[in-house]
Amino acid sequence: MEAAETLEVLRRHEAKDILRFITCGSVDDGKSTLIGRLLYDSKALLDDQLTDLAGASRAFGTTGKDLDLALLVDGLQAEREQGVTIDVAYRFFATPLRKFIVADCPGHEQYTRNMVTGASTSNLAVILVDARKGMLPQTRRHSFLVSLLGIHRVVVAVNKMDLQDYRQGVFEAIATEYRAMAARMGIPDPVFVPVSALRGDNVIFRSQFMPWYTGPSLLEILETTQVEDLAVAAPFRLPVQWINRPDQDFRGFSGTVVSGAVALGDRVTVVPAGWTSAVARIVTMDGDLERAEARQAVTIVLEDQIDVSRGDMLVAAHQRPHTADQFAAHVVWMGEEPLLPGRSYLLRLGTRQFSAQVTEIKHKVNVNTLEQVAAKVLALNEVGFCNLALDAAIPFDAYGENRETGAFILIDRVTNQTVGGGMISFPLRRAQNIHWQHVEVNKAARARLKGQKPCVLWFTGLSGSGKSTLANLVEKQLQALGRHTYLLDGDNIRHGLNKDLGFTTADRVENIRRIGECARMFVDAGLIVLTAFISPFRSERHTARELLEGGEFLEIHLSTPLEVCEQRDPKGLYRKARAGSLPNFTGIDSPYEAPEAPELRLDTAILSPDECAERVVAELVRRARI
Ligand code: ADX
Repeated sequence: MEAAETLEVLRRHEAKDILRFITCGSVDDGKSTLIGRLLYDSKALLDDQLTDLAGASRAFGTTGKDLDLALLVDGLQAEREQGVTIDVAYRFFATPLRKFIVADCPGHEQYTRNMVTGASTSNLAVILVDARKGMLPQTRRHSFLVSLLGIHRVVVAVNKMDLQDYRQGVFEAIATEYRAMAARMGIPDPVFVPVSALRGDNVIFRSQFMPWYTGPSLLEILETTQVEDLAVAAPFRLPVQWINRPDQDFRGFSGTVVSGAVALGDRVTVVPAGWTSAVARIVTMDGDLERAEARQAVTIVLEDQIDVSRGDMLVAAHQRPHTADQFAAHVVWMGEEPLLPGRSYLLRLGTRQFSAQVTEIKHKVNVNTLEQVAAKVLALNEVGFCNLALDAAIPFDAYGENRETGAFILIDRVTNQTVGGGMISFPLRRAQNIHWQHVEVNKAARARLKGQKPCVLWFTGLSGSGKSTLANLVEKQLQALGRHTYLLDGDNIRHGLNKDLGFTTADRVENIRRIGECARMFVDAGLIVLTAFISPFRSERHTARELLEGGEFLEIHLSTPLEVCEQRDPKGLYRKARAGSLPNFTGIDSPYEAPEAPELRLDTAILSPDECAERVVAELVRRARI
């Protein structure tokens, strides 16, 4: 065998022998003790860890003279908590039969997030149930997430059997109840094992105290459960990371195979373009291969000269992904701030990133009862079934068919934090039937006819800061200068186009989303647009800006202090808000996020309306917009 081939065989052998699993349950259920027991009894611990553990057990242990195995895991956990960024700890242990990687998720508020992270690579889930308590809401919750995440192998470890006198009836009752729930959730054939993590019963070795149980110990289950390498089993997908073109004679497409396998001669299609060719060579650092599979980094040379760009995907010609800019997906929300339909988030799928909005929350799922409930927003740890729209058509698969190309994360644009995880269900048909219609008369032509450069003057600030007054004055002056303008004013628009919207955060997001779209259309029409909306959120103002070309969006912040606005109180609304009869009032009990870098900032407490108008017009001149 050639060296490369030997390595290849070894690598595959290695991959086959690893079981990745996740443990679900809280510390009280004995999760830490169970993991500790697995690590300890399988001798995965290093000597110095054991010495530390003996010391810690004597000092803080709750188990008398015995080693307190929970301290092992919890101690590591405390260490980990200082590391802030790591939510999930991966622990390794091995037996002669298999290697194991346990994703251990701390069981506190951030549980959902951690579970999603830990589960994404897991083949199996161990769900802990305390024999004394039976099934709890969190057992249902964890199981639901496990099924949503596509983990079909579930082992239910009924723990603390020693505290129930090792009674068979206790175990059977829990198993019966769990089986019924699993069936509803689509978890096939869960396996049950009665254990005492503390005493070591049925964890590694079979227990003498439960002769009625003749099945394997937990470790034996983990050692023998057949697992498929899901990434390898899925259809071939290779996102092209770069075009390798050292000279005229060589042209290869490099990237990591994210799923499936590819062999010489296989027919592959380039998506989204749709060209098909056959694989001529599979090149690696260690020479050519005949076949490559998931997780291998390779350079593919095709038989035909076809156009491939970075960001395209090579796929199995007979198993193509969907391509669409809209799809339905389950979204697990992990943000402190709720998910708001209409807000623009960054969506990362594989190595690529797009702009995305949730256009509709079809329902959220009550994870305890599995009921589908109507929802306008998704709060922390909630799961919703949503429609999403992206700024570009992308290739993807249903999560059920391919975890690698069917899962995505959502990132908050302002904080840059991961706020959601998603599993795609299906593309939206409506997206497939709507195409961009080419129009002959464009923005430039319309603007030329009007003899001007279109743009948006986006006024933002608290109620009573003078947005409408100023926008009105500026429009008059622009008219006098012979400019074609249009003024979109908050109160007016809310009488018509946006009369269905109130002042909740979700409604304000939608209000500004629509105004951003309107402003873009009016700019496309060749107009100078003025908008006067509180527009309290950075995220939506940013999105409105992104819809336009560079230089077309001028954010004008009226930074008049709250006290001044409140004193003016032109519509008597501050008074009502203070009295408690007008909820969600900006500046009182609803936030205003001031712009960080507006094109212009004006304080109407200091400057008169005329002075402000003059500055706005001067700014337009300075930027050569008029
Ligand atoms: S925005 O927040 O969605 O941008 P918008 O500018 O359209 O608000 O509307 C703000 C105007 O609605 C205010 O000037 C005020 O006259 C009125 N209003 C009524 N209720 C509220 C409220 N709860 N918060 C702020 N403004 C309100």
